[in-house]
Amino acid sequence: MKHKTLKGLQDILPPDISIWHHIEKTAANIFKSYGYHEIRLPIMESTEVFKRSIGETSDIVEKEMYTFQDKGGRSVTLRPEGTASFVRAYVEHHLHNNPPPQKYYYTGPMFRYERPQAFRYRQFYQIGAEAMGIEDPKLDAEIISMLSRILDSIGLKGLNFEITSIGCKECRPDHKIALKNFLGSKLDAFCSDCRRRYDTNPLRILDCKVPACIELRKGSPPVLDYLCKECKDHFDSLNKYLKLLKVPYRVNPNLVRGLDYYTKTAFEVSSENLGSQSAVAAGGRYDSMVKEFGGPPTPGIGFAMGMERVIPLLKDVIEISDGPELLICPLDNAASEKGLHLAELLRAKGLWVEINHEITSLKSQMRKANRISAKNVIVLGDDEINSHKIVVKSMIDKVEKESKLDADQIAAILQQRS
Ligand code: HAM
Repeated sequence: MKHKTLKGLQDILPPDISIWHHIEKTAANIFKSYGYHEIRLPIMESTEVFKRSIGETSDIVEKEMYTFQDKGGRSVTLRPEGTASFVRAYVEHHLHNNPPPQKYYYTGPMFRYERPQAFRYRQFYQIGAEAMGIEDPKLDAEIISMLSRILDSIGLKGLNFEITSIGCKECRPDHKIALKNFLGSKLDAFCSDCRRRYDTNPLRILDCKVPACIELRKGSPPVLDYLCKECKDHFDSLNKYLKLLKVPYRVNPNLVRGLDYYTKTAFEVSSENLGSQSAVAAGGRYDSMVKEFGGPPTPGIGFAMGMERVIPLLKDVIEISDGPELLICPLDNAASEKGLHLAELLRAKGLWVEINHEITSLKSQMRKANRISAKNVIVLGDDEINSHKIVVKSMIDKVEKESKLDADQIAAILQQRS
């Protein structure tokens, strides 16, 4: 019987993996320049970690978590996102004892039992960043600017940056009343989830994906209109700093996040080329989460970007050239042994070198060079071994360069051409 990947999961194969490496390397370099350190977290946590922080009434917790009992009868969940795991680790390892800001990043798979569709998977990868311990909106501006720099540096242009503030415990009660007044008169027309959420957490109605509910909630009062003085000052300053840093963005008062832990700043980056799953990255502030996890009151802010959304956008933009620097083409057994040794010497210098172990005609070896996108070839036969001279032929511009049959000289030519 042939087996297949589970629905909503995918294998990541070459040459696509080169784009993954390009993004991961670029992001890691930029994280370093902003002082973010990598943190590696388990992909499974006790279910409570997610339930409490993401919110019992969120779509993720209500419908999308991969939750099961382990053999010891504990309820465990495959992480649907990284922030809750991160905060659990932050508190568990007393990272708050270090001087703020504490800045971390992570990469890895997340799991959500969503209905699979283009750009929406059940296992998807995020690159996320979290900065802890600073309430000042300059940190918000800095992290949004860092995200913009990452997306720009990997080659993504023309994205929409949207920001808003979703207030805090002080301003939300007034907004909640206004929202309930607005929604109350047409509640019967909403889906059963929304009708339930009207009493438990009306803000979640703004995140419902049912088309009829989206239509019905149009024109609802945004939290932005109800901000308390502290949240308003924070948001005004953030706008000022984003302008100072020349981050292109717009304020979207209707921006809603699907997770309950956010306070004040929330943001999303989207692309028009991803259909309905347009969010490439998103994040925000979560100033009460560390305390709720049993740590000392510590503000935090972060974001995560979705690799499966970024990669399709990059495929048309960046060229993947994934082939060896050199293919050695031996014409007989003696040349094959010589080539075997030469390949090892060149690989020891860090070059990607391939050799044809099976001796076939020169024509078929050249066909293979093209097929594997080799950048250069060397043909090795009696003449080359006896004269100790070879020709390094570029498969890109067909330029031929003579060299001694010597790893140092050949390496110098390959490096010059790469
Ligand atoms: P999120 O908005 O749930 O936020 O996810 C962040 C990004 O992950 C999305 O913008 C999207 O690119 C990607 N993503 C989410 N679900 C899927 C899916 N099913 N398939 C493919 N890609 C997906 C968070 O996860 C927060 N933890 C972000 C954060 C970090 N906030 C503060 N710190």
